[in-house]
Amino acid sequence: MCSFTEESKKGTAPFDVESIRADFPILSATVNGRPLAYLDNGATAQKPLPVIEATDRIYREHNSNIHRGAHHLSNVVTTLYEEARERVRSYIGAADTAEIIFTSGATASINLVAATYGDMTVKKGDEVIITYMEHHADIVPWQMLCARKGARLRAVPLTPDGRLDMEAYEAMLSDRTRIVAVTQASNVLGTLPDLPRIIEAAHKAGARVSVDGCQGIVHGGVDVRALDCDFYAFSGHKLYGPTGIGVLYGKRELLEAMPPYMGGGDMVDKVTIEKTTYAQLPLKFEAGTTNYIGAIGLGEAIHYLRGIDMTAAWEHERALTRHAVESLSQVEGLTIYGPEERCSIVSFNVEGIHHMDMGMILDKMGVAVRTGTHCAQPLMAHYGVTGMVRASMAFYNTRNEIDRLREAVDRAVTMLR
Ligand code: ALA
Repeated sequence: MCSFTEESKKGTAPFDVESIRADFPILSATVNGRPLAYLDNGATAQKPLPVIEATDRIYREHNSNIHRGAHHLSNVVTTLYEEARERVRSYIGAADTAEIIFTSGATASINLVAATYGDMTVKKGDEVIITYMEHHADIVPWQMLCARKGARLRAVPLTPDGRLDMEAYEAMLSDRTRIVAVTQASNVLGTLPDLPRIIEAAHKAGARVSVDGCQGIVHGGVDVRALDCDFYAFSGHKLYGPTGIGVLYGKRELLEAMPPYMGGGDMVDKVTIEKTTYAQLPLKFEAGTTNYIGAIGLGEAIHYLRGIDMTAAWEHERALTRHAVESLSQVEGLTIYGPEERCSIVSFNVEGIHHMDMGMILDKMGVAVRTGTHCAQPLMAHYGVTGMVRASMAFYNTRNEIDRLREAVDRAVTMLR
């Protein structure tokens, strides 16, 4: 499933993994005396030179606070910041830059929605629906909201192969449902929930839908207007941008109706000791000095992605994922979690081997994967495991790196069994 906006799919050059790798300096590093095979992109992606150079250049040549100074440097950086907002808007297909709020990351974006739209609309006895495949960032803010309001948090169960049980979901919806919070792609299973069906059903029930796009925006893109989601959150660092920057998209009429989240500079119109009136969107939700250099770096990451044929990049990732699944499936006692149709994430365990021990041996062989609960403890409980090993691919990974993963898993099995 590839859902990029038409504009963001267009690359200018044919997809060539070796020339793309040359744009990411860290990919030529060695770890423990071996070439790095970086397969932990689900946790954070590496950064291309234009992102590194743009942030470095601003610190060296232009740094100044945004929206505040009448002087040259402030004007330059303010312009770059607002250009970055426009780049995000067009990349995700939003109607207006007023709907693009810069936050510190997806977690902050989801907390913002829960604390403002959630507080405004959820009452005692109401229900919020999440799913068993959410990561903690899309569980805890809703749990806190429900605890504040005396509302009920419900979680959509999974099918045995790791998809959402859509019949159970549809049966959960009622006139008490206020919000449905769902991931676009599971960070553990790679599952791609049927968002159009989820959103349509929620809207019919009168509920709003908040989509966690952390993994989805990276492995399939998004067109928020075509999807008709009400809120969409993602982090810059997973989309090849800097850390500490994220985005909340919200439909304008909802953002207009919501109270501000944090109070402080830049989110105000007029302040007296007695009373404050607030700035227009999007600044109403951007209190204080934002991570403006992070935002500009994210804009550069998006500009860089625009230069790549993302349909081909996505196909390349799919081929790597198929190869990883086929290759790892041959290891005796190895279980891969999740459905056949998945984004570029493959989580597994080998019978009798602790996931941390496996991760340590892979690391010794230069293969970087994530081990543990992947910020998704309810999902681990669902599978009855204490953790998993996760390989998560990006478009700069190669078939050879997947072969090295397999080789390292074989070595671990020989050593640990
Ligand atoms: N949620 C992030 C991950 O999947 C941190 O690794």
